[in-house]
Amino acid sequence: MLYPWLRFILFRLSKKDPEHAHEIALKVLQLIGQYPWVLNRFTLYKDPILEQELFGLIFRNPVGLAGGFDKNAVAIRGLATLGFGFLEVGTVTRYAQEGNPKPRIFRFPKDKALINRMGFNNEGADGMLKQFQKTNRPSIPIGISIGKSKITPLDKAVEDYLYSFRTLHSYGSYFAINVSSPNTPGLRTLQEKNHLDILIVTLQNESKVLAGCAGIRRKPLLVKVSPDLSWQAIDEVLAVCSDRNVDGLIATNTTLSRDGLSTQTHEAGGLSGKPLQNRAREVVKYICDHTALPVIGVGGIFNAQDAFAMLKAGARLIQIYTGLIYEGPFVVSAMNKGLGRLMKEYRIKQIQEIAGSA
Ligand SMILES: Cc1cc2nc3c(=O)[nH]c(=O)nc-3n(C[C@H](O)[C@H](O)[C@H](O)COP(=O)(O)O)c2cc1C
Repeated sequence: MLYPWLRFILFRLSKKDPEHAHEIALKVLQLIGQYPWVLNRFTLYKDPILEQELFGLIFRNPVGLAGGFDKNAVAIRGLATLGFGFLEVGTVTRYAQEGNPKPRIFRFPKDKALINRMGFNNEGADGMLKQFQKTNRPSIPIGISIGKSKITPLDKAVEDYLYSFRTLHSYGSYFAINVSSPNTPGLRTLQEKNHLDILIVTLQNESKVLAGCAGIRRKPLLVKVSPDLSWQAIDEVLAVCSDRNVDGLIATNTTLSRDGLSTQTHEAGGLSGKPLQNRAREVVKYICDHTALPVIGVGGIFNAQDAFAMLKAGARLIQIYTGLIYEGPFVVSAMNKGLGRLMKEYRIKQIQEIAGSA
């Protein structure tokens, strides 16, 4: 009830540059993080049916925050109080960088969509390290998304990823290898077989060494893919990921397609939200039908029904970004409540079907 008003004010205040709304939201979340008990009793929804262990990590529920919302891990405590089962911070790059000129986010409320061309604006791996060092970490898993700095040429990309991985190793519950953002020139080339293979092997080897030195389990490595890949290209990604024992995939990043966007626009960048929903779900289903690799499904999830459909397509966990912008902070607990109900109904139906056919 409250959020439509808040959204109205926020969208009004940030009409010229929607990034202002994002900056305000992060500031408020930082503040909330200092007093988590204020929100916790409204947002923390617990239900054993939502819990699972995956990649050796415990998830209290399957709803996570997608990469790109908290690029520097400045608001992880506040975000955790919204009831997320896990957070993904970043994408962080080796070097701090400003990203593309503003404005670089565009809202399309009629379509429940966003176009962004942020270009990995972030404080760099060392900046994120400082942030983690001074933050009292929430108890949920925190994934760190790593990417390539703009100034780094493609043939030196592996060193870039390696630097961020090493620097932040002890703080990430898992690491997402982002090779699918459309806003860093050349980045998506890293999804090609040979590039991806070298990148994964290098990070896997480093992961073993770092885990051995620290006497801990190897940190899970996941690959985030684009929805714009052909089925053949996805097959190649899957072959590399399976051969190299990647722990899972995240599908999908934003799309360059404008299908499903009713508003005319010439803004460049990646499209997210409702228009991405079908394609993201289709890609998740394809991956789950062709491999046993666990998938985190992301793209156009706005409510419990959308989340449930993504889980039915085969995803083990889901993430949201654009849904959080349009539906507001209470969408996380509402989604979990709804998911709990839908999962129970589904289980009962399955039991009835088995009993009926016996
Ligand atoms: C403004 C904005 C910035 C984003 N930045 C990143 C990023 O840095 N790293 C990343 O992996 N994905 C990034 N994404 C993509 C999201 O994580 C997600 O994959 C995509 O938006 C689809 O989900 P959604 O429809 O729920 O937004 C960004 C998305 C938006 C809207």
